[in-house]
Amino acid sequence: MSEQPRLQQMATRMEVSRRVARRFVAGEVIQEAIEAVRVLNQKGFSATTDYLGEMVTRKEDAQRATDEYLRALQLIHENQLNSNVSLKLTQFGLGIDEEFCKNNVEQVVKRASELNNFVRIDMEGSPYTDSTLRVFATLRGQYENVGIVVQAYLYRTEKDIQDVLRLHSRVRLCKGAYKEAPEISFKEKSGTDGNFIKLMKILLQSGGYHGIATHDPAMIDATKAFVHEEQIGKDQFEFQMLYGIRRDLQESLMKEGYGMRIYVPYGEEWYSYLMRRMAERPANLLFVLRNLLRG
Ligand code: FDA
Repeated sequence: MSEQPRLQQMATRMEVSRRVARRFVAGEVIQEAIEAVRVLNQKGFSATTDYLGEMVTRKEDAQRATDEYLRALQLIHENQLNSNVSLKLTQFGLGIDEEFCKNNVEQVVKRASELNNFVRIDMEGSPYTDSTLRVFATLRGQYENVGIVVQAYLYRTEKDIQDVLRLHSRVRLCKGAYKEAPEISFKEKSGTDGNFIKLMKILLQSGGYHGIATHDPAMIDATKAFVHEEQIGKDQFEFQMLYGIRRDLQESLMKEGYGMRIYVPYGEEWYSYLMRRMAERPANLLFVLRNLLRG
């Protein structure tokens, strides 16, 4: 459903789907994201702000995304918020031209560096894994304040982690959210989960500051047990979760003294993001249906 343009057009026009989206998306404009981050910070969470959008095919759109991120960084700075930014390379023109994309992202990383902030490059579907890692490695060669995401559902990820750790990178580990072929990815949840735990251990033993991004209580418990065993401090890594998902768990981990960063998406292009969240957890559809009935 995330790739059906007609459905997307219909849904984004419906008031009810906007209401549903608001559970998982901070709003359509930057001011709403800034307010959401402010509230999260007041509660003790850090944040990463994401301007939704991907797969742009026109250079003007990639330039617009670049400008929006520059504005987001400026507002985060002016409002003294505890938030970095996360971005997707296909929103910056990766599908148009790799060098063009790199130059756009570099503007954001450079500005973030001037403002003492940090940029996380999200990982997209496997057609973009190699080019994403290439652009990241080039930027990491020039800037300290840029990190990458890796996905536990891909077989290749253990090797990719070795490569990015050689660059002394900060890594976010997640399970992976795209539909991937069985030749390259674990098909069973147990395979992905087992790999997630293995990769979590490699990352946390590396001595860098990494993000463990999951809502899965089993992954969280395994992480807590490992850091306890290895005497890794609660300030030497952080948990990360998505806005509006498992708020109970977000709060309890924060209260236990773990770093907890919330991924705060905003923007008009919320449809694909929302569909990925629905696919992960069909129970969210009940939430949609309840809203439809109320609407
Ligand atoms: P899993 O899907 O196995 O779910 C375990 C449990 O978590 C569920 O039983 C439920 O309790 C809860 N849960 C999970 N998803 C939920 C939902 N949508 N609604 C309600 N409850 C839910 N992916 C990617 O490919 N590239 C990226 O760059 C990123 N970036 C990213 C950043 C951050 C901060 C997070 C938390 C996640 C990502 N992801 C991502 C998404 C990630 O790959 C994955 O799709 C989701 O986090 C869901 O996987 P879980 O680890 O939560 O476990």
